[in-house]
Amino acid sequence: MKIPLDRRSPQPVYLQIRQRIHRLIQSGTLQPGDRLPSIRSLAEAAQVNKLTVIEAYSVLEADGLIYARPGSGYFVSEPSVTSPIPPSRFAPSQEVIIPDQGEMSYFDIYMASVSALHQDGVTVFSSGFPHPHDTDILQRVARRAFKEMGALLFNYDLPQGQYPLRKQIAQLLVQKGLDASPDQLIVTNGSMQGLSLVMQEIVQPGDWVIVESPTFHGALAVLQQLGARVIGIPMTRDGMNLDLLAQYLHSHRPRLIYTISTLHNPTGITTDLAHRQQLLDLARRYDCRILEDNAYEGLNFDPVPPPIKALDQDDFVIYAGTFTKTLMPGLRVGYLVATGDDYGRLRERKMLHDLCVSTASQAIVSEYLATGYYRRHLAQLCTRNLQGRGVMLQALEQYFPAEASWTVPTGGLFLWVKLPDRLPMQLVCSEAASEGILVTPGSAFFPNLQGYPAMRLNFSFDAEVIEQGMAILGRIMKRHLAT
Ligand SMILES: Cc1ncc(COP(=O)(O)O)c(C=O)c1O
Repeated sequence: MKIPLDRRSPQPVYLQIRQRIHRLIQSGTLQPGDRLPSIRSLAEAAQVNKLTVIEAYSVLEADGLIYARPGSGYFVSEPSVTSPIPPSRFAPSQEVIIPDQGEMSYFDIYMASVSALHQDGVTVFSSGFPHPHDTDILQRVARRAFKEMGALLFNYDLPQGQYPLRKQIAQLLVQKGLDASPDQLIVTNGSMQGLSLVMQEIVQPGDWVIVESPTFHGALAVLQQLGARVIGIPMTRDGMNLDLLAQYLHSHRPRLIYTISTLHNPTGITTDLAHRQQLLDLARRYDCRILEDNAYEGLNFDPVPPPIKALDQDDFVIYAGTFTKTLMPGLRVGYLVATGDDYGRLRERKMLHDLCVSTASQAIVSEYLATGYYRRHLAQLCTRNLQGRGVMLQALEQYFPAEASWTVPTGGLFLWVKLPDRLPMQLVCSEAASEGILVTPGSAFFPNLQGYPAMRLNFSFDAEVIEQGMAILGRIMKRHLAT
């Protein structure tokens, strides 16, 4: 196999190998079941280190394009079953939102979402979490993790987290195209703590901060508590509207851009490489820091471009990740990637907050990553979510009002539906709740708690559940539109 390499390119060699093999698979030159060259022979042919080929193969494995058969080598995977998807008609109005301060009540939104999880017999379309999974595996993993840790379980830990876990996270990030080292990682209590630490570090009361509109309400709540003034730049089908971003960077000189570049919450949109590069260029031009939240990464059906942090040469971007969406929210294990001067400052801030993340939780995540369960678990989650997305897209066409439009996310757990302006959303949601279907009005995700009428719908359910729930929602909405 010939792999032409450009050794002067800023793209690392292992990613060039990945790209080449990806193309060979896409073009059909490499067919499902074909065996890839052994690590040694490819390393010799391409004149690279064996570790470089191992990295390239593990990224392709994480992309789901190849798989390892122990003792026999690497093989091309069967293509995943994707149903043809209609292009998205999502094109919301491009209205910038600058809310009055103090408009938000995240506490109520959070309490409602947690109490919904404790109700039996309801379909929680509003959920932002994956379904609980095999608890036998969890128990096995936890037992082994505790045994391996021995007496260390009884100690405090480093504020930045256990070294083996940081090393494993760094390896995961390398597979996503982000070359981070364990010394640039800080393990946090979920990514929520990471977001909060970074915002506290960067934002002073009265500072302008740019967010996507709509966006994750937890981040809005932290900004509100810090006394930040928020500018909500509307999302387009391709991500934050960059023309409006440029305009507001120029007019308001904000301190920070908070962005969810991959599988955005709540729209599910993933930006492409050009969008990421442009956003970074704009931020640098106006000396505005970026906080990149990648809470849903790992749940992508298709390969995603490297994070914005991977393009960052000047320590402009801080990256936050988490195991909440891929493993379990209750473990509360997230992480930050911070470089340059940010690292020491954030590590100290983290220590002053809570000394360290639970050693037991860190040990469980570390054991998951070490055993390979994690990768298998992700593959299962994605297969299930892909099927769920297909069923939900069909149900949207079938049951929802004709004026509705929606995003078609290439992964994650939910999609975002824009609804007709005249729908009384609170009423629709409360009537749906009385029929056992929980949805949150989309207003919860807008900086002023208003925005256009919309819903975020979780598609990680079984087909019949989606089908029944969507039929009920559609019926309620159509009734309101007819009156
Ligand atoms: C975009 C985004 N960031 C961060 C979080 C917080 O997650 P964690 O449980 O890791 O604190 C969430 C949770 O819903 C989220 O959607």
